[in-house]
Formats: sequence, structure tokens, C-alpha cells
Amino acid sequence: MCGIVGYVGPRGSEAVLLGGLGRLEYRGYDSAGIAVLSNGLEARKRSGKLQELRDELVANPIHDGHTGIGHTRWATHGAPNDINAHPHLADDGKLALIHNGIIENYAELKAELLEQGTVFTSETDSEVAAHLVGRAFRETHNLTDALRVVVNRLEGAFTLLVLHADEPDVVVGARRNSPLVIGLGEGENFLGSDVAAFIEFTDKALAIGQDQIVTITRDNVAVIDFDGNSVTPEPFTVTWDASAATKGGWRSFMAKEISEEPAAVANTIIGRIKGERVDIDGIDAESLVSVDRIVILACGTAAYAGLVGKYAIEKWARVPVDVELSHEFRYREPVISDHTLIVSVSQSGETMDTLMAVKYAREIGARTLSICNTQGATIPRESDAVIYTHAGPEVAVASTKAFVAQVTALYLLGIAIGQANGKGDPAELAAAVRDLEATPTLLETVLQQGERIATMAKWMADTQAILLLGRHVGFPIALEGALKLKELSYIHAEGFAAGELKHGPIALIEPGQVVFVIVPSPRDPNSLHAKVVSNIQEIRARGARVIAIAEQGDAAVLPHADEVIPIPLASSFIEPLLAVVPLHLFSMELAAAKGLDVDQPRNLAKSVTVE
Ligand code: G6P
Repeated sequence: MCGIVGYVGPRGSEAVLLGGLGRLEYRGYDSAGIAVLSNGLEARKRSGKLQELRDELVANPIHDGHTGIGHTRWATHGAPNDINAHPHLADDGKLALIHNGIIENYAELKAELLEQGTVFTSETDSEVAAHLVGRAFRETHNLTDALRVVVNRLEGAFTLLVLHADEPDVVVGARRNSPLVIGLGEGENFLGSDVAAFIEFTDKALAIGQDQIVTITRDNVAVIDFDGNSVTPEPFTVTWDASAATKGGWRSFMAKEISEEPAAVANTIIGRIKGERVDIDGIDAESLVSVDRIVILACGTAAYAGLVGKYAIEKWARVPVDVELSHEFRYREPVISDHTLIVSVSQSGETMDTLMAVKYAREIGARTLSICNTQGATIPRESDAVIYTHAGPEVAVASTKAFVAQVTALYLLGIAIGQANGKGDPAELAAAVRDLEATPTLLETVLQQGERIATMAKWMADTQAILLLGRHVGFPIALEGALKLKELSYIHAEGFAAGELKHGPIALIEPGQVVFVIVPSPRDPNSLHAKVVSNIQEIRARGARVIAIAEQGDAAVLPHADEVIPIPLASSFIEPLLAVVPLHLFSMELAAAKGLDVDQPRNLAKSVTVE
């Protein structure tokens, strides 16, 4: 939520900033702006997507320099217009500031500034920080000191970057509960909300901890804490290159990312299976033995991955698992013990609700494990251990390949616990390992149905509402499919547990109502197949138009469905990974058929770094 980039070096900063903002635009696209130091400070900002800013810079060019900051916004305080766009200027236009987060005590700080005669131009909380830093700079004559004075007065979550015309070739940043990483170049340095900001120029990065301030010049990076003590930041190397964050010939990031679902699973497994055992880097089997309860914390798609994981972990490890939305967990009094393992699931590793829930869980004595797709992100840094999903950078706002990677990581965890605590059936666990290894190839088969699904979506471009039914691990897939349809095609979509149909949802069925049904395999050990086929008959009798996602060759479904999307034969826990792909494809194609932007849906942001 809000993308931030900063640069000091020999290159023209305008191009570096615009390139970085292009790769960060998934974080917010309500407005964008840059500030550059050349002979003095110049800034341009525009509401709308980044292209609006690019057009503005052509119409009204900036005197390019070698030091600059850039911002792409997801509005919190103040409408997404030109005035509220960042950067915000202060100190007679000599200082520029950009902000990601929410300054919770901005009203009282603003009142104080107004009393002193400060004139505000925007409705944002961020402008308060700009004026405060400007005022502090007039006293300290040092931008790092000025920012340190101010951050100690701010409450809430923030990443701030500032530059000042009187201190050229310097960008200073600070963070509390919002992301910021440093990119290390030769004779140049970068700051970014994540490594995508500077991946074109360097894969060497430093992670900045909570409540720290970083000052970059061309040849130096200095980090201090909010008390002024020097800190050594943690280095890491980015494992993907700039090409991974481009469309690479695909029509959208989402089309590319769905096509990468097989690789996301394969790369998450790689190196973590030794024979028939799971051995996860950095997770010591001993530490898993004493786990007597798991609470999975996540939001959105990640929470649905958690729900799929619950079914598998309970089966394989015989440990009870609760899945809870992070924002609900934090504001009640959950019962946990030091044998409870909190597993947070987050693609970005920055979702504020999940971060705060993890911190709270640690405070009340739980052990924490993060499942995360982003190196250097805050949630893994705030957790006792991490399992990285190696899905590669996910740029489209709605999550697809990260979902299958998250489910895979949860499966690995479930198998690892089952093997460590000895409660799982060894043969079943060994079979689960083999099934996971075979999954990427099966996923490739499902992807081959892309064209057919696109044709179906075109016919259905006028559909106003879609229901989805699933049972067992098919239930969270119905929920995930519904979320994707809402996010991408802006239609009402609702996922239900098929067993719940007669307890209410069946009242929604009227002639023509489209219902996707995720059908368990006829070989399902729980014999759920027959029950779901009965559900199909019940809704079809009332006029529903049924699209079944069913195992290839499932003859029992064919007579009762209007369309069948076949998925290959697989074990019950691999089925959800296969069944979700047609739903990802369908949601994308329906949005495309309606002429919508599948990568940047309205009102959303990928990384929700405010509560
Ligand atoms: C936002 C996105 C969702 C995503 C959720 C969790 O709401 O729009 O697509 O699933 O955040 O994100 P995370 O980065 O924590 O997985």
C-alpha cells in the first residue's frame, strides 16, 4: 500500500524513480509523484495511474538531477487527487517528503502546526510530517537529525523518505511497521518499499529493522535507531532478476503469474524433500515435536490457503489447527500456550493486520512461523522462523501463484510435523511427498484449458452474480474463487460449503443462476463425491446453470452439469491446487471480457500496510 523509491547516484533520477514506481505500482495507483534535487528541488505529481505522471513530465519537464524520491499512492487520508498526491513540500519548497502508512496522531500535530501559522495545502496526514521535518531542519540543519526528532513524535505506521535542497545528494528514510529496504549499488544507493524498486540495478540489499533511520549518499549507507544508536543492517541477495518483474510478452501480469503456478509449487518444494522426508531449511524437526496446536493467521487469499492447509495438517500431523483472520485474532483474547505455533501466511510479508497479529501473538507467548513470498519483508523478520514460498515476485494485485505456493508450504509443514511427532501414518506421509512432487506436471495440464475457459468467460460477460460450492478442501477453493471474481470482475460472488446448501444458500438459486461446483474425485475416501453430485442435481432442478470442476472421466457428473472443466486424477489434497487454476483463469478472463484492468483492480492494493 503506497510504493516508495529513493535514489542517490550518477544516473538521471527521473528515469530511475519512474522505473521503480512502475514496478511498485501494484502497491497503489491512485496517484503518483516524484521530487528531484538539481538546482533546487522540483516536484511533479498527478492523480491517477503512473502514466498520468509520465504524461505530466513530458508536458512539464523537470530539471533532472541525481537525487530523488518517488511515490505511488493508495489513498487513506484525503481523496486521491493531485493535491493529496505525494511528495508533500515544506520549508518554502526546499523539502520534499513521501509517506506510506497512517500517522494516527496527525490531528493533534496538525493543530499544533496550525497554531504556529503553518499553511497546509492537502488533507493528508503525511503533510504534517513534512512540515514537522521542515521545522526541525531549520533547527538542526541536518536532515537525519531532523527526521529523528520527528519520528519520535509520530504514532502509527510509517515509512518516510525525505530530501532537502540544502543537503544535496542525500536521501533519508525511516520506518515503523511499514516496509523499507536498501539497495546497494556501486557509487549509487537506493531505497524502496521492496526490492522491485531497484532490482533493475542491483540484487544486493539490506533489510532495515523496525524503528530505524537510514541515510543514503552515493557512497555510503548509515543506519541508526530512533534513539540515534548506530545499527548494522542485515544483508541479503535478491534471488530473482528484473525480468521476473516484467510481463515478458504476456498480456497481463496476472496471465503470466497464473502460467507460473506450476513453477511456484515446484520452486517451493525444491530442496525441501529428502527421499520421502520433508526437511525445511531453517526449521529444526525437534522444535516441531512439541507443537500441540497451530493457529494460522492471514488475510484474503492467504487465509484461504490457510484453510486448505488446516485440512491437510490435521490429517497428517494430528495437531489441531485453527485458521483466523489476522484482524480478528488481534482484538480478542485468544487462548494460546508456549506449545502453540502461530503460522502467519502472507505473500507480501507486510500486511499490517497480519504483522500486528504476529507481534501480539509473540507478546502473549506463542512461537511464530512466517510463510512468506518476499525476502527482507517485515513479518518474517518479526517471526521466530520462516518458510519462504519461492513463487517469484507477484505483481498483479490479486494473488494467484502465491496461493498455490502457500498451500504447498503449509503441506510441507504438515508433513514435517507429522514426520517429527510420529503421529502421522508414515506411508500416507510418504505418499503425500510423492503427490506434491507430481503436482507441477498436473498443473501444466490444467493450464491447457485456458482457451476454453476464456471462451466460456466471454459468453458470460454479462453475468451479475456467481455462486461457488465446494466440500472438504474444495470449500476454501470455492471461497478463493469467489474472492477472485469479486476482486477482478466486480460481480457479486459467494463461496459456500456444499453441505450448507440446504441450510440457506439454495434460496438464491433461480433460473439461469451460474454455480461453479468443485466436485471431489469419485475415488474420494470420504465418499463426498455422491453428496456433491446430489447437490448439483438439487440446484439444477431449480434452474441453476452448473459449471463443474471435476476429475477427468467422472461420468457421474456429466449428465448433470452444463459445462465440465476436467482436472487430472490426483489425491484429495492435490485436488484443491488443481481446481483453483480454472477459477483463477475464469476470473481473469471474465474481467478481461468486461474490459477491466486485471492487474490493478479498482480500490485495491496488493500490500495492505495500513489497518
Ligand atoms: C490484499 C490483496 C489480497 C491478498 C491480501 C493478503 O487484500 O488484495 O489479494 O490476498 O491482501 O496479502 P498478503 O500479502 O498478506 O498475502
